[in-house]
Amino acid sequence: MDQIRIIGGSPLSGTVTIQGSKNAALPMMAASLLQEGVCVLKGCPRIADVFCMEEILKTLGAVTYWEDNNLYLDCSHIRNFAVTTEYTKRMRSSIMLLGAVTGRMEKGCIGYPGGCVIGKRPIDMHLEVLKRLGAEILEEGGVLCADTGKKGFRGAEIVFEKSSVGATEQGILAGVCALGDTWLYHCAKEPEIYWLGEFLNQMGASVSGAGTDVIHIQGRKKLKGISFRIPPDRIVAGTYICAGAATRGKVILKNPPLQELEAFLKVYQKMGGQYKVNSGKLTTDSSRVGLPVPYLETDVFPGFPTDLQSQVLAVLTTAEGMSHIRETIFEDRFKAARELRKMGADIEVQGQDAWVRGRPYLTGTQVRAEELRGGAALVLAGLGAVGETIISGCSYITRGYEHICEDLAGLGGKIEGNTRKIYEGNI
Ligand code: UD1
Repeated sequence: MDQIRIIGGSPLSGTVTIQGSKNAALPMMAASLLQEGVCVLKGCPRIADVFCMEEILKTLGAVTYWEDNNLYLDCSHIRNFAVTTEYTKRMRSSIMLLGAVTGRMEKGCIGYPGGCVIGKRPIDMHLEVLKRLGAEILEEGGVLCADTGKKGFRGAEIVFEKSSVGATEQGILAGVCALGDTWLYHCAKEPEIYWLGEFLNQMGASVSGAGTDVIHIQGRKKLKGISFRIPPDRIVAGTYICAGAATRGKVILKNPPLQELEAFLKVYQKMGGQYKVNSGKLTTDSSRVGLPVPYLETDVFPGFPTDLQSQVLAVLTTAEGMSHIRETIFEDRFKAARELRKMGADIEVQGQDAWVRGRPYLTGTQVRAEELRGGAALVLAGLGAVGETIISGCSYITRGYEHICEDLAGLGGKIEGNTRKIYEGNI
């Protein structure tokens, strides 16, 4: 049963702990391949994308195990260099393994990546960065291979043509393995890149500037296994604040990644939300949420994150007046709008723009999640709606949320779904 069932209408209230960040954990898992010992990722989210990456590492020869939320990755005996399409189709970010595997084995192969369907999502920049660092890229029957030969990666200066989180991470991972210095310019500045730099530096690498425009890497340092705590997930944090907003409730985050939420919190205030920070906790009060946002555009960090666009869209469906959202990062990221309309939302989408005319309330019905964050948006809409909402396609949601039903039920939401059990077992 791939469904979440919600009876909407109760304002959420209470305290929630934010899971470890998916987008921080995944590149760290790839980075673990660069040492020949054990890395422990503490507070690692037990979600489908992490399980998928874990399976891939196992096929490469890693030995892995979990102790609660601590993931042990023993990469002493990596022996394979090919990641099959079976896994890469499931998760687009698996492309980031290409540089790491090649760095470790001198050759790496990977099936064309898949992942959430939110636009074209090309991988040209990933391949370009590996080429610039000295790899030959070959395509053999739908499989991409990077080959550096015995020389391995060699340091280079790379200017990214646009800001890409994944390509910047790829550049860092390969640069750490490269002989000499690598300079990366026009880098993405998302917090997960900063955290990857911290992780690698604790392993013994020399990465400076991660999280800024320019990153400098002195490659081929001897790396060792470490234990590292995954930071809280800024997107999950924003999603749960939006759950409070959709129900006009009061949600407290126990461990908010405050500095990473600035752009989001500004928008939250525009919608009428109020918050305060006390002893590291973030207390939000959404009782006055209901104002439209005349214009909001997604942007690279520190701008408003595309990964919270759908959730805010869901909240704005019941904010009286006209809101306008422009999506600037991905081409096809308004999929949730179609489903929200089934619940009575008044949303008009034209290309990269969505106009939302707030209604007094939405009405529960059957809807389908088609991608991760859009799926989360449907959960929020359901919590705020009148009556019963049944969401199918929940495997998208569990790719990123460890226990969304349990967390929201803990805040008083009438929500149930056995998503957690199903997907832990499946991947
Ligand atoms: C990462 C996040 C994702 C988030 C996104 C933007 C992970 C696992 N995923 O995805 O949750 O939504 O950042 O913050 O961290 N592009 C190219 N060529 C490339 C690579 C990207 O043209 O080779 C384009 C993309 O199509 C997109 C833009 O660059 O338009 C940004 O994508 P990118 O920052 O790379 O996103 P991801 O790393 O895939």
